[in-house]
Amino acid sequence: TAPRIALVGATGAVGETLIGLIEDRAFRYREIQLVASPRSQGRTLRVDGREHRVSAVDTFDFSTVDLAFFSAGSDVSRKWAPVAAAQGALVIDNTNAFRMDPDTPLVVPQVNADALATRPASGIVANPNCSTIPLVRLLRPIEDRWGLSKVVVSTYQAASGRGHSGTAELHEATRAALANPADPGPQAEFAPTLAFNVIPFIDELLDSGFTMEEQKMLQESRKILALRHLDVTTTCVRVPVRNGHSEAVWIECHDVVDRAELVAALCALPEVTVHDRDAPGAFPTPRTIAEANDVHVGRIRVSPHNPRGCWLWVVADNLRIGAALNALQIAEELVARGTL
Ligand code: A2P
Repeated sequence: TAPRIALVGATGAVGETLIGLIEDRAFRYREIQLVASPRSQGRTLRVDGREHRVSAVDTFDFSTVDLAFFSAGSDVSRKWAPVAAAQGALVIDNTNAFRMDPDTPLVVPQVNADALATRPASGIVANPNCSTIPLVRLLRPIEDRWGLSKVVVSTYQAASGRGHSGTAELHEATRAALANPADPGPQAEFAPTLAFNVIPFIDELLDSGFTMEEQKMLQESRKILALRHLDVTTTCVRVPVRNGHSEAVWIECHDVVDRAELVAALCALPEVTVHDRDAPGAFPTPRTIAEANDVHVGRIRVSPHNPRGCWLWVVADNLRIGAALNALQIAEELVARGTL
């Protein structure tokens, strides 16, 4: 029978995207409960044409659900996901809180769905970072065919990665700068201002000089691909884009890469759109990708002076591919496998 589900963070950017995807994909549930902070208690949201009241997480009884999606930030997950798991709900956690926990599988269904064969010891399945998910989906077949030696990534990450308040701040700061170029506008989510700017700093700074966001991409790629020594190095940059993360990816392989074969390998992937010379100048951008539920890849180049190396330009909807869609596909896989 269909699971009873709870959406923690239902009022947020990822939560609302998840509701939309549950409707679009006709995900079957027996009951759905919407959960957020006490600030939202009593608000109502529509799901599949029916109004649902939002509950506060502090008083929510997770024993009434089979599956709980968490997208309310790491602090909320750290505090409440283990409680939900202890009360018997299987948690799909969208935050960074448990991703590197050895008892918690870190899953991109197109890459390592086998990790969902049994119920995890922690009672939690972790959803990877929004930039890691599209990257590993494209790296998998390249590793299998040519062997990955080194991956160098620069990201171009949208404001919506910081949720509703991130996009709202980008709008406000842009409006302020248009009125007065010297006015940085609000800087609560992004500092310095993100309006007409780029910021090479996401999440916190580590002793290594890398940011947490950059470290996540290394550690998570290794765990998902089961390549413990994979060399991934990243610069993560916030750009004034509303939604949709982009990545410039340089990949060095053990074997010489044939471009036509690389394009064919990428075209063969599920839910990936390859933009390749079908029109002059055709390449994906966050504003122009048509199928929002696909990973988009273009600018596919094999280096003439290093034929073991290739470049990819990758664009993916961070709220969908990078968060809500991956989480829902984990749930679909758990249901299909009867792991719930
Ligand atoms: P709320 O709307 O009640 O603040 P976003 O990523 O768009 O910023 O959304 C964050 C989500 O996490 C929202 O649903 C928000 O609920 C929820 N949230 C934030 N803080 C808490 C908290 N302390 N307890 C439960 N939910 C929280």
